[in-house]
Amino acid sequence: MTEIRVAIAGVGNVASALVQGIAFYAQAENEDSILGLMHPEINGYKVNDIKIVAAFDVNKHKIGKDISQAIFLEPNNCLIFSEVPKIGIEVKKGPVLDGIGETLVDSVPVDENQKPVDVKKELENSNADVLVNLVPVGSDKAAKFYAEAAIDAGCAVINGMPAFVANNKEIVAKAEKSGVPVIGDDVKSQVGATIVHRALVDLLVNRGVRLKNTYQLNFGGDMDFKNMLSRERLKTKKITKTEAVRSLIPEDYRERVGIHIGPSDYVPFLNNQKIAYIRVEGEKFGRVPMYIDVKLHVHDAPNSAGCLVDCIRCAKIGLDRGISGILYSPSAAYMKYPPEKMPDPQAFKSLEEFITGKRER
Ligand SMILES: NC(=O)c1ccc[n+]([C@@H]2O[C@H](COP(=O)([O-])OP(=O)(O)OC[C@H]3O[C@@H](n4cnc5c(N)ncnc54)[C@H](O)[C@@H]3O)[C@@H](O)[C@H]2O)c1
Repeated sequence: MTEIRVAIAGVGNVASALVQGIAFYAQAENEDSILGLMHPEINGYKVNDIKIVAAFDVNKHKIGKDISQAIFLEPNNCLIFSEVPKIGIEVKKGPVLDGIGETLVDSVPVDENQKPVDVKKELENSNADVLVNLVPVGSDKAAKFYAEAAIDAGCAVINGMPAFVANNKEIVAKAEKSGVPVIGDDVKSQVGATIVHRALVDLLVNRGVRLKNTYQLNFGGDMDFKNMLSRERLKTKKITKTEAVRSLIPEDYRERVGIHIGPSDYVPFLNNQKIAYIRVEGEKFGRVPMYIDVKLHVHDAPNSAGCLVDCIRCAKIGLDRGISGILYSPSAAYMKYPPEKMPDPQAFKSLEEFITGKRER
């Protein structure tokens, strides 16, 4: 099998977990050490086949550093779970655009005099197969920029954050024309607040309970949460997180359910740990009320990287098979806001059919 050449836009915590994870599974020697993966192999591709070949950021301290070093620089605070040998790929400066919001200005130093590189050229020169977009919430212009540069360079696009890329008709049309696949938008983590919340809602709906109200309150201590203190930047995140849950509620009473989902605060000492409080309220037999309260406590970035290693391999299958435009099944299985929404069991069945070639996309 050939390698999968990956470029990353945004060398933050999720990139750190992704790069660490690739190094971790490269050292996997026995069956136990491949635990933690949703798919040890996808159509013959292992995590070990993923090679980072380009990386872009705007933080002046990360630029010029080997990515194996840059991922461990502040303000990144992802748990260190693997050593990462030198990779030989320097982080290059991308255009800042709307990447740094008001609450991040003090934490992410940008050298205004340093010129950004030509991202499309860098992607071409590095022979990247796939670009993974991991810029901060609210960076809609930057997300569009990286997606378009990737498509122009003939790379598949994975949009791991809540800007609309797979949900942007123009970008998708451009990808179709250029013959590259797109997976998006906004990773639905391996076991994060969204998938747990969806499982609870699915359970109640499937057992005939009528959902009345539900909330999901999230907080954490990393730059993602600090950035989200800026309510202005939250518009797309609100949509992707809320729709991921709302879309599972039966249409006939969906509009009458009280739903509140969103990030609520930044608690610095939590570092990359995230806490989510999830509540579902419903009425069961005889319209008798019932409630479920759940507290989730996770390291956030590895949760996203656990899905990205699958998305990257699915995107490569798309390239190998000459599929262009949206990959519906991987998007539904791994993203919060896929262009085609479906319950998770259906999304995973559809994903397996995609992987084995029974379903085209
Ligand atoms: N479980 C998860 O952590 C999870 C799940 C789903 C989605 N996401 C999303 O993934 C994205 C990345 O998350 P993170 O925790 O790594 O965030 P982060 O803030 O740690 O990393 C973002 C990186 O992007 C860089 N950046 C800012 N503007 C840029 C630009 N114009 N070009 C290139 N780089 C730029 C920043 O300097 C930083 O290094 C966020 O949008 C987040 O909401 C995360």
